[in-house]
Amino acid sequence: MKILIISYSFTGNNDALAATLASELKADHIKVTENKLRTTGKIFFDILLNRIPEVNPKIETVKNYDLVIFMGPVWMGKIATPLRGYFKQLKTTMGKYAFVSISGGADGPNIKLRSELHKRIGKEPAALIDMHIADLLPPEPKPERKDTSDYHLREEDVKSLTNKIVKILREDLLDQNLFILAG
Ligand SMILES: Cc1cc2nc3c(=O)[nH]c(=O)nc-3n(C[C@H](O)[C@H](O)[C@H](O)COP(=O)(O)O)c2cc1C
Repeated sequence: MKILIISYSFTGNNDALAATLASELKADHIKVTENKLRTTGKIFFDILLNRIPEVNPKIETVKNYDLVIFMGPVWMGKIATPLRGYFKQLKTTMGKYAFVSISGGADGPNIKLRSELHKRIGKEPAALIDMHIADLLPPEPKPERKDTSDYHLREEDVKSLTNKIVKILREDLLDQNLFILAG
């Protein structure tokens, strides 16, 4: 099974996870970058104005892949805006796809991700994995935004989250008669 991972990361967490997942699944991995410096203010305006930022690299087609896994943070309940251009550009050549994220989770699960994916890509994801930094922290005192936003995944977090993702992907894709052979 040929897998492509397309990841974007603002503070490094999702890219770290994507790199380990790619090696575990023997997948190709493309990291998305931006020409212009991103600031927290730009994140707010992108979301408020529904913008699609300029990103690199350009990807014309994903028709050679059996599965495309998008990875990136959630911002204000939405998928990080630098992935939007890929959803738009690639939806016609995309077969099965998944979205995987490690986000903050201090305010609970990000309940609008499935409908956003459906709206932007036009079909359901084969798997949707919304994982939270809040679950990596002690439950008491209850983690707040300031605790989750400063957190950088440790090596052991990356390992355990990667194992979790592989397990869910195997189960979800097996249900759809798609087999992850690597690993
Ligand atoms: C402006 C902003 C908004 C955020 N909004 C959310 C959110 O709605 N839900 C959530 O779970 N995490 C939210 N987060 C937390 C990030 O998703 C989290 O820190 C993530 O691990 C960052 O991933 P990265 O290191 O790959 O950029 C937000 C972070 C920022 C900076």
